[in-house]
Amino acid sequence: MEKVWKRTDYCGDLRASDAGREVVLNGWVSKKRNLGGLIFCDLRDRAGIAQVVFNDELEKSIFEAADRLKSEYVVSVRGRVVERESKNPNLPTGDVEVIVEDFRIYSEAETPPIYVKDDDNVDENLRLKYRFLDLRKPKMQKNLLFRSKVANCTRNFLADEGFIEIETPTLIKPTPEGARDYVIPSRVNSGRFYALPQSPQLFKQILMVSGVDRYYQIARCYRDEDLRADRQPEFTQIDMEMSFVEPEDVMEVQERFMKKLFKDMLDRDIQIPFMRIPFDEAMERFGSDKPDTRVGFELTELADIVADLGFKVFSDAIENGGRVKAINIKGAADKYSRKQIDKLQESIKPYGAKGLAWLKMTEEGLTSPIAKFFDEEHASKLIERMNAENGDLILIVADKAKVVFDSLGFLRRDIAGQLGLLDDEQFNFLWVTDFPMFEYSEEEGRFQAMHHPFTCPKDEDLDKIESDPANVKAKAYDIVLNGVEVGGGSIRIHDTKLQARMLKALGITDEEAEEKFGFLLDALKYGAPPHGGLAYGMDRLVMLMLGESSIREVIAFPKNQNAQCLMSGAPGKIDDVQLEELSIDVVLNKQEE
Ligand code: AMO
Ligand code: AMP
Repeated sequence: MEKVWKRTDYCGDLRASDAGREVVLNGWVSKKRNLGGLIFCDLRDRAGIAQVVFNDELEKSIFEAADRLKSEYVVSVRGRVVERESKNPNLPTGDVEVIVEDFRIYSEAETPPIYVKDDDNVDENLRLKYRFLDLRKPKMQKNLLFRSKVANCTRNFLADEGFIEIETPTLIKPTPEGARDYVIPSRVNSGRFYALPQSPQLFKQILMVSGVDRYYQIARCYRDEDLRADRQPEFTQIDMEMSFVEPEDVMEVQERFMKKLFKDMLDRDIQIPFMRIPFDEAMERFGSDKPDTRVGFELTELADIVADLGFKVFSDAIENGGRVKAINIKGAADKYSRKQIDKLQESIKPYGAKGLAWLKMTEEGLTSPIAKFFDEEHASKLIERMNAENGDLILIVADKAKVVFDSLGFLRRDIAGQLGLLDDEQFNFLWVTDFPMFEYSEEEGRFQAMHHPFTCPKDEDLDKIESDPANVKAKAYDIVLNGVEVGGGSIRIHDTKLQARMLKALGITDEEAEEKFGFLLDALKYGAPPHGGLAYGMDRLVMLMLGESSIREVIAFPKNQNAQCLMSGAPGKIDDVQLEELSIDVVLNKQEE
């Protein structure tokens, strides 16, 4: 075969200033129109689309060949750039076109099963199956390039700050991040398994003990958990760890990092330092440990006002140690009919809410199924507390604290979305700090680590570890952007005695600790510096920067809801020989046979 023609330019890069130049473009046919003596063709490459024109001054055989071009054929064209008579302002290259002098076809293409264009609303499963076509779309190309630049910017920033990039193993012992592990059988150690890392947590701590001082890695992490729009079974962390630091030191680096990233990538000026909200306050005000502050609708306390209202739903909740809180959806009274409010009520059932009480502020005063309970005094107290004005919609949930927080926390953001109040061009960063050290697991009937067992408790809470674990706060911090947890970290325990106390409080026996992470405990015995760090979910960060609503849009080859790769067919079966080598018998559940 004749040698590949060397491209002079990417299709998407041609501009008016290129007029008069001889160019060679390589790309895919995106569209072809034959207007008799003229054939117009859109040629696409990763940079964009250029219009190329075949006219009948061309040799007949070349013109005829051009007419046989179809979508997704791969071609080279050689020709001259000219200014267009009718310009296309919607296309960056719309001022010019290329008058073809010669061209050649490298590959023909069958009719593609999905359109290669951004606004093709085809079923996502089909997009994932034909990802090689899907990725040709201009938006996906843009996303891939953007992500690559984020990685570059990250490396440059962290290298300048003295962080060293170190790879840690992916065939490891399980790390205690809290999700289920993916496991890999070992052939040479029959009956034994590696886990894929849920994060490089233990290794990065070991690197601090090893004197690395500042580590980072763009690391693949694996978690076998239920998938959502912002969760994938394998995802990428921008992971880092620092020695001899307090929380402020770690947070300060992140703020400068985010400022630089948003400036370099989006030319946006992010205000630093970020607002810091202690966990308890975040829950009280926003019903969430990842508050979205692009909207108001903060949660307001009502228990003191409604305790003696005579409405059993409220008074029972309070008597049972629960809470009554409300949100005021400003000006939304006539945007929500009874039916729509019923839908809102339905939407919070998964959080355990048994109902949703509501009041509308109208000219005639409060209207509501529960208005009858409000005498003048109670009504005016409520109106004052809620800052309620004509046209407002007040939504109230009474229940256990967790149900109230989760329900109203969900509603304030969901309704903001419904009302079109969430601007994805606005970037609201904040820190959530002072997380509880322990979280009570109803299922297991014991306290568990909210972050992980190596998180350091706050100094002032150290003597509560045994006596009052529920009130021990941790030196842990999450970085939140527009209601999404984009990163999380903490200061770690570097003292073996404290680590032993912590493990005991978590009900982890010495044997269990030794088996699971004995190597870390061992390392702490030989001179561990105070250290701490943080990891970003890189997919989430890139998703938000690009205004996407799923991390699948910023991952080249994501998995579907069932953790399958629809393109390659993973996970697959393995043959009996391989199973035998691994000393594994597969016993399928009846339904999977
Ligand atoms: P954490 O478990 O909070 O912390 O994870 C850090 C960040 O990773 C992102 N993330 C995910 N992104 C996509 N899919 C998932 N399944 C997924 N799970 C988590 C989130 C999260 O904030 N070792 C600690 C970090 C540390 O303490 O330094 C850790 O892994 O954005
Ligand atoms: P009921 O007395 O059960 O008919 O409820 C009267 C109103 O109170 C309805 O609008 C319910 O949705 C609402 N409601 C019921 N339970 C709760 C709750 N736990 N919190 C808030 N509102 C509730």
